[in-house]
Amino acid sequence: MEKSGDAARQDGMVVGSEQHKALFCGLLLDTFDPYRPQVIAWPVLAPEARTRLVALPFWEVALETEESAATRMQALADATSDPLIRAALALNAFEERRHKEVLGHMIRFYGVELAGETRALPPLRPRWAFLRTGYGECFDSFFAFGLFALARRSGFFPPELVEVFEPVVQEEARHNLFFVNWVAYQRARHAWPQRIGFAAECLAALAVQIVKRLGAAKAADGDNFTRKGGEALGLDLDVRDFLALCVAENERRLSLYDARLLRPRAMPAAAGLALRFLRRR
Ligand SMILES: [Fe+2]
Ligand SMILES: [Fe+2]
Repeated sequence: MEKSGDAARQDGMVVGSEQHKALFCGLLLDTFDPYRPQVIAWPVLAPEARTRLVALPFWEVALETEESAATRMQALADATSDPLIRAALALNAFEERRHKEVLGHMIRFYGVELAGETRALPPLRPRWAFLRTGYGECFDSFFAFGLFALARRSGFFPPELVEVFEPVVQEEARHNLFFVNWVAYQRARHAWPQRIGFAAECLAALAVQIVKRLGAAKAADGDNFTRKGGEALGLDLDVRDFLALCVAENERRLSLYDARLLRPRAMPAAAGLALRFLRRR
């Protein structure tokens, strides 16, 4: 599809250009971390720490989320004709599957008991499924960055265990950056009528993810990963401090990458608004 003449610029880079594509695909392909889940040296935990880890309520949800993300990203890779974007999407899918493998090894090593094996079916509409997963990841990892920093500080788990998950968390920052740039690139490459349709599809995917999470937050036994995570980690969270930490961690993690790439804006903006509101009360 043709790029429109009024394409937005980002520090001299034209959004939707070949240069933009090379940058956001290179972001994933050039910063790949070749760690292997099979050889992770899991630290032996003291009995209390192991009991705490085994009792955390989110391992099943985490496995399902990674499996679903991997399947959806691979489905979009298979449906993408551009070789560079296809390679980046396939790497994204590989990394999601590797996250699931890391969790699987951890679960077996420490003896976490789960109901059964998680499998996701390839989506019928790969682009729609990818948009939903992408917005979902932007939302969840924004809070996960803050929770991870808190877990590191609190000493709830030994530092060697926290460090095993550092590459996993950083990969989610890369995925978010790739996603928002993929969206902006696709939008810019569409001619006007299709561009409006694509923008509407993005908005709908975002709305579905927001509604899903609001529903989970309301439900007494909701499976919201972040909320349950905070409770289970025994963290006494001051909402303002936590939001400010999420904003700072999000910025720190994304600051490692090319400044010309677009940044995820919705979550930092929503958190900034919430912080202003909370301070006034
Ligand atoms: Fe993941
Ligand atoms: Fe991801």
